[in-house]
Amino acid sequence: MKTVGFIGTGNMGSALARAAAKSKAADRILLSNRSPEKAQRLAAEIGAEASDNRTVAAKSDVLFIGVKPQMLEEMVSGIHDVLDAREDRFFIVSMVAGKDLSFLKDLYGGKPVIRIMPNIPVAAGSGVTLFTASEEVSTEEKEFFKRLLAASGTVSEIEERLLDAATGITGCGPAYAAMFIEALADGAVACGLPRRQAVEYAALMLKGTSELLLESGEHPGALKDRVCSPGGSTIQGVRSLEKSAFRAAVMNAVIAAWEKEF
Ligand SMILES: NC(=O)c1ccc[n+]([C@@H]2O[C@H](COP(=O)([O-])OP(=O)(O)OC[C@H]3O[C@@H](n4cnc5c(N)ncnc54)[C@H](OP(=O)(O)O)[C@@H]3O)[C@@H](O)[C@H]2O)c1
Repeated sequence: MKTVGFIGTGNMGSALARAAAKSKAADRILLSNRSPEKAQRLAAEIGAEASDNRTVAAKSDVLFIGVKPQMLEEMVSGIHDVLDAREDRFFIVSMVAGKDLSFLKDLYGGKPVIRIMPNIPVAAGSGVTLFTASEEVSTEEKEFFKRLLAASGTVSEIEERLLDAATGITGCGPAYAAMFIEALADGAVACGLPRRQAVEYAALMLKGTSELLLESGEHPGALKDRVCSPGGSTIQGVRSLEKSAFRAAVMNAVIAAWEKEF
């Protein structure tokens, strides 16, 4: 009998709670949120129970924390005694950006913690959730955690020292990918294609190219070469992108996000 709880059911908390409900790995899902209507609405939608922070903290075998970083310490001060008083086995899953394992272990009094970095496409079941676990988390607990989030997309363990670099792609990347899609569509609109079709074709093209690369394991540069026929139109587009330092701009975006301190 496994109970999974979520404190903070905003954008990301609710996306992961939906995935947990879909996976059917938990027997019971408890939700709480500062404005209770949000948790109540979500509970009705996914077949969970709306509750309050202290009950969720007391009853959950896996406790997801989905509040904003600046609200974390205040929220934890309201449940600290409940967590301290527990003698049963449970672990915490923190999605709070920028809060590392050593901070989280101190904050939660040394309880086992998994730190995760999900991304926006989890809401469509195609996300990437990176995770790193404190040494107190057992292999079985990690396996259960992965099963819980299986419906959210890929769940991948990573060393904590590499998490920020990977987040520069998985966490921030959806913004860059959306900008790329928007820019492709703008270009096609300038050439006369209606906006709706332009956005749809650009997004499908990006999805298809990603699927092809993941399926084949081909180097991205080799795929680019296959599309560029000698004397053709694509190599002229590539020339134009190179002139605008496209690849340097993208590399710098990833590095800029990595350099930003919380
Ligand atoms: N969004 C992303 O793409 C993303 C990606 C990776 C990580 N994250 C992390 O996920 C966390 C949530 O982000 P978000 O985008 O989902 O933010 P959000 O939509 O603002 O959700 C935060 C939720 O926490 C609730 N909350 C605040 N204080 C609370 C308290 N004391 N007790 C219970 N609930 C409380 C808020 O309730 P109200 O409705 O009353 O405001 C809100 O629903 C953040 O730590 C963020 O770093 C987000």
